[in-house]
Amino acid sequence: MDMYQIEGAKSLRGDVPLSGSKNACLPIITAALLGEGPSTIHGVPDLFDIRNLRLLVEHLGASVEFSDGTLTIDPAGVNRDYVPYDMMCRMRASFYAMGPLLARYGRAKVSLPGGCAIGDRPVDLHTRGFQDLGAQLGESNGYIVARSPGKRLKGSRLSLLGSNGTSVGATCNVMMAATLAEGVTLIDDAAREPDVVELAAFLRAMGARISGEGTSTIRIEGVEKLHGAEWTVCTDRIEAATFAIAALVTHGDVVLRGAVRPHLYSTLLALDLWGAELTWVGENDLRVRRSRHAKHPLQVVTEPWPGFPTDVQSQLTVLLALTPGESYIRETIYPERFKHVHELKRLGAKISVPEKGRIQITGVPALRGAVVKATDLRAGAALVTAALAAHGTSQIRDIEHISRGYENLEQKLIDLGAGICTLPVADSDPGLDGHTHHDTNDAVSQADPSELETLAGDVV
Ligand code: UD1
Repeated sequence: MDMYQIEGAKSLRGDVPLSGSKNACLPIITAALLGEGPSTIHGVPDLFDIRNLRLLVEHLGASVEFSDGTLTIDPAGVNRDYVPYDMMCRMRASFYAMGPLLARYGRAKVSLPGGCAIGDRPVDLHTRGFQDLGAQLGESNGYIVARSPGKRLKGSRLSLLGSNGTSVGATCNVMMAATLAEGVTLIDDAAREPDVVELAAFLRAMGARISGEGTSTIRIEGVEKLHGAEWTVCTDRIEAATFAIAALVTHGDVVLRGAVRPHLYSTLLALDLWGAELTWVGENDLRVRRSRHAKHPLQVVTEPWPGFPTDVQSQLTVLLALTPGESYIRETIYPERFKHVHELKRLGAKISVPEKGRIQITGVPALRGAVVKATDLRAGAALVTAALAAHGTSQIRDIEHISRGYENLEQKLIDLGAGICTLPVADSDPGLDGHTHHDTNDAVSQADPSELETLAGDVV
């Protein structure tokens, strides 16, 4: 296990090139399984989640090449319809295999995802959507088994509204399944996130007939076949937001290269209200620094698109922790997504949880270095952001969570002038504070291909 050691309180300055969007890439990779020929995807970030998904599609029988950000997938050899538990528990996005497998081969057996560090993450909306398309679903031994009784799924009108709003993942999965269904599908209460729009555009490039993406009703006219396509993925709006906030908390001056302006709308609105100076210095290049105006505490609610993204909630918490006055954040998408709060307090932040799903942040003048632990991807990003601002040295443990979602994070930060390095953690490492560190979280690791060989799946 490695850790980041960060010497904080250094202003970040310079340009940072943004990577391709992880969350847009993941469904696009499984969507490529729907094509009769190979697809080529450019701008793919080299991340653990992407490598794990690559192993998954290879496990299904597809051949994949990945170099210099270009991933080529040839689904010609797909001969399995089975996603084992080991793959599912590494990454929830493995469930994205279900829609394409069901649509193209009429059957799929996918392990149920387990619990998750950011709270309960059910898949009922995915399965309900598949059932609405005529699939028969059953559960056995922790697996969801789905079959299409006819040769093709059947288009229908369906809603993806759950008790917690709509779902990005279910919208992507059901949209993929509907592309090859017989007849027209209308998805009501669809998620409107850029990742859904990006997937729809890729599917259209494969020959799918889709309209309405980005609104709450998506129309899909099923076609008999899709072909491979070439696609360049948009840049990562969550990575952009993370660097923007890192620039602000370090009193820096950073240009985000390749930012997609409409994807950053609500994040930039919040940063503008706070008092950031945000200047577009090129069509896709955003300069971020502090303005001379007072820094304002904020009251923010995370919401589905176009609301403030839950994936930026933890990083914003760091900014508000260093802003005089009382700020509040209400998390409506994952009410338990506050694992970073405890660790931020170790750095000196003053945060309380007055009720489930809401935090109160009392600004402090400065944070100080400490040993902290990343519990999940975005909590980890918040800890890095906080450590960059903090006075003194911090150590961030369990950084494999962070590598799941940030490409070349360390090098990008070094190029901006940060004092960051990766060090190995010994089991008996006393840390900065003298406490022995025992690593208990080994859930996120890269899949070992030899291990997957032994997991024989059903042959399609
Ligand atoms: C995606 C993103 C994740 C982001 C989240 C919300 C990927 C790989 N991940 O996750 O980074 O935080 O969107 O923007 O793109 N829900 C149900 N039933 C379901 C599915 C979801 O009740 O079947 C609930 C969830 O518990 C949650 C809400 O719906 O409360 C939104 O979840 P969803 O949009 O599905 O998140 P993901 O697609 O898993």
